[in-house]
Amino acid sequence: MLNKISAKMAALNSELDYRRKLWQYAPKLPALEPGDRIIVDTLKREGICITTLANLGFDSTPKLLDAAHTLLPNIGKDIYTNSSQNPPEIYTVTHLPNFYTWGSEQRLLNILEHYIGLPVAYHGVQIRKDFLNTSQFSTMLWHRDSEDRRIIKIIIYLNDVEEKHGPFEYVPASFTSIYNPNFYRLYYKIYNSGINDETLNKIVPKSAWKSCQGPAGTVIIADTQRLLHHGTVRTQERSTLFFVYTANPPKRPGLCTQYWDDTYPKPEVLQEIR
Ligand SMILES: [Fe+2]
Repeated sequence: MLNKISAKMAALNSELDYRRKLWQYAPKLPALEPGDRIIVDTLKREGICITTLANLGFDSTPKLLDAAHTLLPNIGKDIYTNSSQNPPEIYTVTHLPNFYTWGSEQRLLNILEHYIGLPVAYHGVQIRKDFLNTSQFSTMLWHRDSEDRRIIKIIIYLNDVEEKHGPFEYVPASFTSIYNPNFYRLYYKIYNSGINDETLNKIVPKSAWKSCQGPAGTVIIADTQRLLHHGTVRTQERSTLFFVYTANPPKRPGLCTQYWDDTYPKPEVLQEIR
């Protein structure tokens, strides 16, 4: 009982400290380029903003795409049959300048700092291929990420993504916000693991879900803590880049090391294992 009370008090203090830091940092936020204000406002309102590499117009984009398309032919060379569970192949590329540099573009960091409201930690970038699957498992189950109070994942599609490629899909924030009873219906169901389409459909109808389909070069900037999300079951493979950001320091730093440590292989092994 005493332990429970002290845990609650610690959580409350941590929340108050977070609110105080947001308030103190607000006057120190960097200046935004006029067009970037729209991205920040959309993120604040909806928890997601979908744009394109061309619209962002970073100088580092051609080198990023060259680097990604040089690696892609060496990823996913195994034969993936129509099995129910083919896990994705994920490679950490944070240490490679052409990937890291795109994710540390100053304009991008300024946008994210305005959304997160605190100095930003850029944790890293991974390139991944997701393969055909007939049933939902792992990140194809509906879930929220939990590294921090606000987490931005930037997903770049490296191939055209239609329904058959398993697009990123999310529930609009208003359906699952803390002011909506759905929040409490979902809370324990998604506490330790994700839920499948059938379970979610009973709480938030499928008609409300948003599928993010788009051509290669589509950029999805999403708060994956705030939005219930998943990757959908696919019949064709999908290639993406994932960039990850939180406040610095994040609430759970231990969950963030996977974006730069040896949890996932680095591309050097592609030569050794093939
Ligand atoms: Fe996620």
